[in-house]
Amino acid sequence: MEFNRKDILDIASLSKEEISFILDTADKMREISERPIKKVPTLRGKTIVLFFYEPSTRTKLSFDIAAKRLSADCVSLSASSSSMVKGETLIDTARNLEAMKPDVIVIRHSASGAPHMLSRYLKTSIINAGDGTHAHPSQALLDMMTVREKKGDLNGLRIAIIGDISHSRVARSNIVGFTKMGADVVVSGPRTMIPKGIENLGASVSHSVDLAVQDADVVMMLRIQKERQSSFLFSTEREYAREYGLSEKRMKIMKPDVLIMHPGPINRGVEISPAIADGKHSVILDQVTNGVALRMALFYLLAGGIRNADD
Ligand code: CP
Repeated sequence: MEFNRKDILDIASLSKEEISFILDTADKMREISERPIKKVPTLRGKTIVLFFYEPSTRTKLSFDIAAKRLSADCVSLSASSSSMVKGETLIDTARNLEAMKPDVIVIRHSASGAPHMLSRYLKTSIINAGDGTHAHPSQALLDMMTVREKKGDLNGLRIAIIGDISHSRVARSNIVGFTKMGADVVVSGPRTMIPKGIENLGASVSHSVDLAVQDADVVMMLRIQKERQSSFLFSTEREYAREYGLSEKRMKIMKPDVLIMHPGPINRGVEISPAIADGKHSVILDQVTNGVALRMALFYLLAGGIRNADD
């Protein structure tokens, strides 16, 4: 198929066919990271800028590694070391970046909609690496890639997403993505962390974590995003772990072949017990491995100039 998008801003704007095509392309990329020499010349001469206004380990490093595996030049700018600390606006900063002729700008920002604004002002391709509580498309794509790898197909699966749904761009992108691919998504967590209207994205809501997870093929646990909370939304971490966390006791009511996922960073002993995070059902590190291949696919499709994964 043709893949003619300029940007990757969210999952909502991608069709089911485009998502499948991105996942197929990422599957082909995965093998490059297994080679003794993990590098192909595909994006030689291309320049990628990573522009991160919020902390990141997995997303930033995997975009950086993905660019290098495709032989692109990759440079990085953080908010604290940029001239934004001297008062330069986001759009002026972005226009100056564009003047240096990069091929792709990857941006993470605390304001929902920041990547969309850049995409309207700039001709350069924009990839959203997470904006506020809105969207984290590359995370949702790597999550779908991981589930597809393990389960064969996304259609008909039941996905439970548990925790701080209100503040989670990962939850929103995954709800939209998995439902688009034919899965059923249920969300659960403290009532204070389930936003009104989340059903409009395609998820159902269960106020019982046990009911949400017992028939699930995939259980995705989320961190409490204290940095985005303006008030206390739960009493103590110990109580949160007991009521909403994934414990060995809760695992006993779940399917024997359930996959346990987490976008990271994990708060061990709060939303997930260490034994489960490191246990045989966990695919948390497979998500990280697939993140490199998935981001290689995004760079290839936006900057490679070759639009067919079979070419
Ligand atoms: N999953 C994720 O976005 O992790 P980082 O914040 O470490 O990038």
